[in-house]
Amino acid sequence: MPTTSRPLHFPPTFHWGVATSAFQIEGAALEDGRGPSIWDTFCHQSGTILDGSTGDVACDHYHRYASDVDLIASLNVDSYRFSISWSRVQPLGYGAWNERGFEFYSKLIARLAEKNIQAHITLYHWDLPQGLQDLGGWLSRETPQRFAEYAAEVARRFGSQVASIATHNEPWCTANLGYGNAQFAPGVADRALSIQVSHHLLLSHGLAIKAMRAVTGDAGPQYGIVLNQWPADPATASPADVAEAQWEYARSVEWFMDPIFKGHYPQRALDRMDLSRFHVMDGDMEIIQQPIDFLGVNYYTRTFVSTDNPPKARPGVLGFTDMDWEIYPQGLTALLVGLKEAYKDLPPIYITENGMAAADHVSNDQVNDQARIEYIQMHLQALQAAMEQGVDVRGYFYWSLMDNFEWNSGYSKRFGLIYVDYATQQRTLKESAYWYRDVVQSQRQEK
Ligand code: FCB
Repeated sequence: MPTTSRPLHFPPTFHWGVATSAFQIEGAALEDGRGPSIWDTFCHQSGTILDGSTGDVACDHYHRYASDVDLIASLNVDSYRFSISWSRVQPLGYGAWNERGFEFYSKLIARLAEKNIQAHITLYHWDLPQGLQDLGGWLSRETPQRFAEYAAEVARRFGSQVASIATHNEPWCTANLGYGNAQFAPGVADRALSIQVSHHLLLSHGLAIKAMRAVTGDAGPQYGIVLNQWPADPATASPADVAEAQWEYARSVEWFMDPIFKGHYPQRALDRMDLSRFHVMDGDMEIIQQPIDFLGVNYYTRTFVSTDNPPKARPGVLGFTDMDWEIYPQGLTALLVGLKEAYKDLPPIYITENGMAAADHVSNDQVNDQARIEYIQMHLQALQAAMEQGVDVRGYFYWSLMDNFEWNSGYSKRFGLIYVDYATQQRTLKESAYWYRDVVQSQRQEK
């Protein structure tokens, strides 16, 4: 994999961070009053997770959060993105709050503050309380109302202590993998239903933003949403390939961006979707189009579209990660520049996730993950290129702080800067962690 030596120059105000999510690291699934989420239910069904594992223990972060924050601090980063487990703070997703659950996040936020690390909260990283799933989950119009209540409560308690609150992480995944092809919880495979779920997720986003602003007013943190995005490149200039790539981009990126920033769904996507279960009520689009303070973009790879049979091969491939995702840094530049052109009122962007899985192992207390270093370096260069073309990007969060429960891949895929030995819970900084620490340090010295 080639690396270029183009030096990195990020602005002095740029934020450097690492990211995680509750279900993937916390464990303590049944402790201190936590209720089950749809991911608890899903993992405990046989055949759902590649290695048959669950999130019951995960990285045991619930018990180790203090030393984990010390590890975050040792990376020199100024920002940490994590999510709140809804069923930990409200076991059923409605009704009583669980004070012991909130206490955990209070302690985490306080520890981060002690280390001068900004807290960036995500409210929903896929772990709906099972209690709400039992009432219809994201297919019910009531769930967005419950989500707004939960969001308001989090804003009330933590709004003045955190830098940002994002409503959703990657609603595309919840809709398409949770309801489209059953790869994720709750394990439903029905394309028509997945479209209605995506509408309710967007509606819940708008309702939550309104509810949180009502609680904190102008003094609140930055409010936004995190979307996974990728450019869709046609293999050739043939009308069939181009049309297929446009459809792919419309159903993944524009499907979420257009409602939020333009107030309507993209026609190109509507034209090809099964809308038999799709109901948008009067006023929904106005609610979804709430002004937000930032957009979180998660970028891993691109989509390559070929309508030939067999499909055309990807040209000039740099490599594939352990997820089999093509390493394609220039897609990040193209994506961000494309967003700037397509959406006039785009708020500042944070790269809320970017990273690679590799088959890491510890030898002599070291983890040599040169490929990850190159991956990050190339993506930072691609990000810098986008910023030079006028895209307003304020920060970068590596996914992930440490190896963790990678959803339906279980513990078989390692994305961390820090290696986790799941048998002992020992953490070992990988070479990429030292490298990232030095990058952050050198960018700071330039200030
Ligand atoms: C993203 C998820 C994150 C992690 C990475 C690899 O889609 O937001 O939780 O699984 O992919």
